[in-house]
Amino acid sequence: MAADRPESEELVLAFLAEAGDEYLSGEAISDKLGLTRAAVWKHVEALRAQGYRIDAVSARGYRLAGVPDRLTALELRPLLNTHDLGQILHWYEELGSTSDRAKELADAGAEHGEVVIAEAQTAGRGRRGRSWASPARKNLYFSVVLRPDLTPARAAELTLVSSVALCDALRQAGVAAGIKWPNDLLASEKKIAGILTELAAEPDQVQWVVVGAGVNVNARPEDFPEELRGEATSILIERGQAAPRALFAAACFTALEGWIDRHAEEGFSVIRDAWRERSVTLGREVVVKADGREIAGVAEDIDESGALLVRTPAGVERVLSGDVTLLRPR
Ligand code: BTN
Repeated sequence: MAADRPESEELVLAFLAEAGDEYLSGEAISDKLGLTRAAVWKHVEALRAQGYRIDAVSARGYRLAGVPDRLTALELRPLLNTHDLGQILHWYEELGSTSDRAKELADAGAEHGEVVIAEAQTAGRGRRGRSWASPARKNLYFSVVLRPDLTPARAAELTLVSSVALCDALRQAGVAAGIKWPNDLLASEKKIAGILTELAAEPDQVQWVVVGAGVNVNARPEDFPEELRGEATSILIERGQAAPRALFAAACFTALEGWIDRHAEEGFSVIRDAWRERSVTLGREVVVKADGREIAGVAEDIDESGALLVRTPAGVERVLSGDVTLLRPR
């Protein structure tokens, strides 16, 4: 008889989920999992208390009738097919910022692929000191700890790696997403996701990188602060249909791990090509705000380190970081 470990709850859930619409008798569950009937009942009650709807009918048994819209390991683990990413998951109902928590964990020795995920953030951070609107249970807010074998100079490549991965996950979810340099995900010319990359490094070796991602999944226009309503969109707004957040989170983790592995094995050139294919910046007239300057011209390409090359009347400008505004297509 297996010890009555907390994982038994996960096993009961996985067994019920596998059975789909079918009822499973208490006896079948206890035989399969090596638990007493009383233990099965206790786990069913514990799952119900967490928002799972489990029908119980005498002489037929139990059936999973509904799962909560939550992103704990209980919901995510059965959906993950990654080797590292998200296998260790730190879930919070509410946090200041998942990236702040991930950085603390990274400093304390967290492993490559550990993920911090929250249902809501009270101090979600964007690039350049901006805030990131993080209403509860509408969207996806997560941060991944990475331990890449990279010099600090190459760490910015991971920002482009992540934008390629999120673009793929969004397209898989039926959204025609594209990347605005360096790492904004747009749909219908509005922002649907953003990435914030932070790192700690020795002079010639990265210690950790924290990639923080916010994806607008099921937010409606009224869920965004008023000043963002014209600029922000979500999967729900784009498709006219809500997306199961747990499935979408699992798709993001799979895509991220896939592209991170390719980057580690094949280098940046494969990422550069993938980024170019998904870009909505290249070939467009842009104004780039960088270091207090405004550079106007045509976004021509990204170079071998991910910098944006802008053709201006005075020649080609190389931009390492900045804010891009896309003007009308030529
Ligand atoms: C941007 O486009 O400016 C980047 C936005 C990044 C937001 C995400 S949400 C999860 C993680 N935690 C944070 O505080 N920020 C990132």
